[in-house]
Amino acid sequence: METKMKMIIMNICFLFSLLSFCSHTHAAIFEIRNNCDFTVWAAAVPGGGQQLNQTDVWTLEVKPDVTNARIWARTNCNFDASGRGRCETGDCGGLLHCQAYGTPPTTLAEYISYQFDILNLDIGDISLTDGFNVPIEFSPTSSECTGGNISCKADINRQCPKELKAPGGCNNPCTVFGGDRYCCTARDSSCGSTGYSRFFKNMCPYAYSYPKDIAPVVFTCPGGTNYNYTVIFCP
Ligand SMILES: *[C@@H]1O[C@H](CO)[C@@H](O)[C@H](O)[C@H]1NC(C)=O
Ligand SMILES: *[C@@H]1O[C@H](CO)[C@@H](O)[C@H](O)[C@H]1NC(C)=O
Ligand SMILES: *[C@@H]1O[C@H](CO)[C@@H](O)[C@H](O)[C@H]1NC(C)=O
Repeated sequence: METKMKMIIMNICFLFSLLSFCSHTHAAIFEIRNNCDFTVWAAAVPGGGQQLNQTDVWTLEVKPDVTNARIWARTNCNFDASGRGRCETGDCGGLLHCQAYGTPPTTLAEYISYQFDILNLDIGDISLTDGFNVPIEFSPTSSECTGGNISCKADINRQCPKELKAPGGCNNPCTVFGGDRYCCTARDSSCGSTGYSRFFKNMCPYAYSYPKDIAPVVFTCPGGTNYNYTVIFCP
């Protein structure tokens, strides 16, 4: 019943979006800023990608029907004039304008919209489940959101356990070792924290340290609102 209702609402929204109604009421805007003292190539799915020199800002509008978005930084990239090349971290199949998620390690800013769900909330979090490359801050700009301004600023690369070290970053153990213990992939998985997840948690208490982390800090906003969000690399 609930699913059927969701479908009906989504269809109504789709029809309205053709009349460019929903698209104006529900789009989210992400202001993505590079405060690092080096160039990063910001990436977003959906959204694409853009080179950000120091202090550059990319204003990205995410369409109203998007229920999941992921934003990360790529480092040490080289692209040709057609937007093909590669990056040391976060590379997405060699494209400047990403269409797929990046290769770990990447610190992730994640946005999940439950606007079509009974919850009617939009949620933002920072995740280290794909490891870490660049420090991130992620915050909503509206005061109607709660728990805003979360960040992961620690210098994880420098303290990374050697078996997790990667060029330009620090892998999550799931990427290196796989398996249910670190990736929580099994049906009814009873995976819990590990020495590695505690390392990440210690460094960045607000971020997801493993897929079923029970105590990350997220921010929430009323569902489907056209709020603006800020993502800062090297806050
Ligand atoms: C970023 O830096 C590169 C290399 O210095 C330069 O060619 C490019 O124009 C800069 N981009 C912007 C938007 O300033
Ligand atoms: C987030 O909090 C930090 C420290 O409290 C502050 O310096 C920063 O300006 C805040 N960021 C935003 C976007 O409000
Ligand atoms: C969101 O950002 C856009 C573009 O930067 C701006 O025009 C708009 O006023 C902002 N909306 C809010 C609610 O701050």
